Amino acid sequence: MPAAENARPTHESVVPPTGVRPARFRPADGATDAATLDLDGTWRFRLFDEAVTGADPADAGESWDAIEVPGHWQLTGAPDAWPYGKPAYTNVLFPIPVDPPRVPRANPTGEYRRTFTVPASWRDGGRVVIRFDGVDSWFEVAVNGRVLAQSHGSRLPTEVDVTDALVDGDNLLAVRVTQWSALTYVEDQDQWWLSGIFRGVTAQHRPAGGIEHVTLHADYDHVTGDGTLRVEVEGERTDAVVRIPELGVETTAGRAVRVPGVEPWSAESPRLYDVVVDTGSEAVTLRAGFRTVAVVDGVFTVNGTAVKLYGVNRHEFEPTRGRAVTPETMLADVLLMKRHHVNAVRTSHYPPHPHFLDLCDEHGLYVMDENDLETHGFEPLGWRGNPTDDPTWEPVLVDRVTRMVRRDAHHPSVVIWSLGNEAGPGRNLAAMSAAIRALDGTRPLHYEGDWASEHVDMYSRMYPTSEEVALIGRGHEGAWPDGAVDARRRTLPFVLCEYAHAMGNGPGGLTDYIDLVDAHPRLMGGFVWEWIDHGIATRTPDGTPFFGYGGDFGEELHDGVFIADGLLLPDRTPSPGLVELAAVYAPVRIRPVGDDLEVLNRYAFTTTAHVRLVWTLVADGLTVASGEVDHVLAPGASVVVSPATVLGDALDPVDPRATVWFVLRALPRDASAAFSGGSLGAGQVLVRGAAALAPATGTPVRTAVGHRVGPVELDASGRLVAIGGTPVRLARADAWRAPTDNDRIRSWYDAIGDDEAWTRAGLSRLHERVDTVRREGDALVVTARTAGAASDCGLDVRYEWRAVDDRTADLVVRLTPSGRWPGSVARLGWLLALEQDDAGDVVVDWAGLGPHESYADSTRAALAGRWQHSVDALQTRYTRPQENGARRGVTTATVGLAAGPLTVAAGAVRVGGRDVPGFELTARPWSDAALAAADHPHELTPDGLLWLHLDAAGHGLGSAACGPGVLPNAALHPTTATLHLRLTA
Ligand code: GAL
Repeated sequence: MPAAENARPTHESVVPPTGVRPARFRPADGATDAATLDLDGTWRFRLFDEAVTGADPADAGESWDAIEVPGHWQLTGAPDAWPYGKPAYTNVLFPIPVDPPRVPRANPTGEYRRTFTVPASWRDGGRVVIRFDGVDSWFEVAVNGRVLAQSHGSRLPTEVDVTDALVDGDNLLAVRVTQWSALTYVEDQDQWWLSGIFRGVTAQHRPAGGIEHVTLHADYDHVTGDGTLRVEVEGERTDAVVRIPELGVETTAGRAVRVPGVEPWSAESPRLYDVVVDTGSEAVTLRAGFRTVAVVDGVFTVNGTAVKLYGVNRHEFEPTRGRAVTPETMLADVLLMKRHHVNAVRTSHYPPHPHFLDLCDEHGLYVMDENDLETHGFEPLGWRGNPTDDPTWEPVLVDRVTRMVRRDAHHPSVVIWSLGNEAGPGRNLAAMSAAIRALDGTRPLHYEGDWASEHVDMYSRMYPTSEEVALIGRGHEGAWPDGAVDARRRTLPFVLCEYAHAMGNGPGGLTDYIDLVDAHPRLMGGFVWEWIDHGIATRTPDGTPFFGYGGDFGEELHDGVFIADGLLLPDRTPSPGLVELAAVYAPVRIRPVGDDLEVLNRYAFTTTAHVRLVWTLVADGLTVASGEVDHVLAPGASVVVSPATVLGDALDPVDPRATVWFVLRALPRDASAAFSGGSLGAGQVLVRGAAALAPATGTPVRTAVGHRVGPVELDASGRLVAIGGTPVRLARADAWRAPTDNDRIRSWYDAIGDDEAWTRAGLSRLHERVDTVRREGDALVVTARTAGAASDCGLDVRYEWRAVDDRTADLVVRLTPSGRWPGSVARLGWLLALEQDDAGDVVVDWAGLGPHESYADSTRAALAGRWQHSVDALQTRYTRPQENGARRGVTTATVGLAAGPLTVAAGAVRVGGRDVPGFELTARPWSDAALAAADHPHELTPDGLLWLHLDAAGHGLGSAACGPGVLPNAALHPTTATLHLRLTA
């Protein structure tokens, strides 16, 4: 029930936490000499069905279960037998009736108990505080049976002064945690609903005269090169001694001191200095980074220099632990980001575990620190009753930003404060914004829901089209109705707080956005949605492990696989999307400009003195020449590297029929530095496309059962039945793929989704009717039509078979679409299903782009070379199975079939009248239909066939699941395609 006057607040009260101390900074572990006691570990636990549990806070729960803190109770136990409920996923919708501040009476509520003993010395003076770093969602704290505090703000700290309740010896700490509370209405982030004490708990001695709170300003003046340090201390002793031992600086809190010649902090060079703040009773060591963040003339700057944010959105997630992430995982995330050239992270959509910020300070990441606020579930109701616009909620929302800023403001990595996410418009935004500005005027503010940007310092949007971003970059965006507001917004930098939805196979089109970011000073960068798939580790009844998503746990309402939309698979395997991201975000951008390569130093502060520019000349996959070009680029400088100049006569000995690429890699001089693909950037330009294949001079032979063309056997009707002794179960033209998550969902900007268009065109049900077979000169010509039930769209197909010799045949496949197609087409090519046991073990060796998969709008990471993988290794096991694994620009591929190798070499490949270098190759041990039907990877089993796609072209990936679909430059539409292949078996 809502709190009666003077009664203690309940989980349905809309009031800031009660009985708590003001939020304070959180020094890194071990950074204070005040004593602390770790209260993590095994606690007693009992789950109740309602918030009023009847459990006595004085009951030590000795007969109850044991539970590990930190953790979520829903994920406690074995992954197929959680005793305390199950995870549940909704994105926008509330899983409870929208009736704020009331919540259902059925409200899983955990009672936690543990005892602790404080050293006698703690009680000689000072106070004893219990600190909770994160409890989801509402909780009440009692010590020795005395109820002391009620708190909330799941991802915010709570400190409770327990001194007066302490006794000698064992003290009983009781915490009651409800799953649902009034605060649920402001914590509707797109993630699993998971509850409990999921971050650490500590008891802390606050010595008399200790440091209650510290505000640290460490600014950098890029003109003089001086730092300025000002430390303010709250507590009995505000005149603490402040020292920077490394620089011999000593001053007093409250005074600003100039520090000449400091090395500034940036994400590129995260230089930290220990700053010791000492009151005599307590000494704290903070890690200060001298840096100044400012918006100057509409440009986001750090230390006086424009900085671009090449960012990702990061939720806290581990597949077995949910948001109770370990320090090891936090470090893994930071290192993975650095290795993949990410320089910025938005802590979507709440302040992260504070240790994560310590790591960002140390390793160098720019952080947009976001308040724990999302009320998205009010949007489907037309924002009726939205807490953001309800004055009753103002104190709660202001409390939240206050706690965030007080906890995190000493971190140099935090460069932007964000008011929250998807909390709609409303009067409380102004109050939150003012509260932050009063506490910290040194960082710009962000909030995407404020499209007018009235309360913030940057214009922010999520998932706009690249066309709109280009307009904004040029300052030509549509006007805001209020002229003054519009004029101010035009002076602000622009950030993509979310773009490129990395759900399943994707995102496509990263380069399109980042090229704009690089081109326009106003565009300060963007954050891909999102870092990791939140697949929960679980098991089938027979014990097969898999990663579950929405609907896998019997939820009444859920949003399915939308929870799996990250650049990392749930087990933190980088997806091809992350590898592509690394190539696009690379600090040394190398891209083709005509026949040349342009090299741009994207660092804001660093020259490329630590980089070697190494070129290779790759002919049909093999490196035939290599060398280095010598350029040291100043920050922001670029140079054009021209193969024509660099190569000299290196091209002379190269086979004139070969496909030749000039590949340039920016490699770290320090070979031990670990970056995606080993490089700090790479790019390539096609020097020479393949020459036409030599004419086939053999002749097809009539056999008792049909025709033989070199190693290829066809039946009398012209159907392909075997190649080199390997039976062919199916061979036909193809235009479909197992839809990706992006294909399945209609984009924000299109009238029809890709999968919808393909289904309407019958592409998921294609069959081929062979019409004629006849000799035309030396060619055996088969004509056919490939189409699907219920549609008049189809492909007219012409196969021309020619013999080269006994082991080699030529095939030209010509595809001509007919009918009125409703939209795009997934691929244009030829599909073969070869009988093959253990198809997953078959080794594929190819010359072309690799080693990773690539699609028309995700190509930057795939470089020319010769690569080898087993068919199994060619698969990407997305959390929900879908199209994956295409290798493009293939000029030769050898497939190690049991009966002997089958080599496919490319002749001319033309799409819509345009030559393309090589074909697209995909190999799988199951069909696309099986891939499309599977909900989880473990449901896919090899079917005894090797499915080979040899395509002239494939549709891009886009970001339609959230945002724009495939951009026009990567969309495949029904068009003519020709594929000339030479098969040797
Ligand atoms: C955004 C939202 C994110 C996430 C994403 C879809 O609108 O801010 O939290 O839900 O959509 O995955």
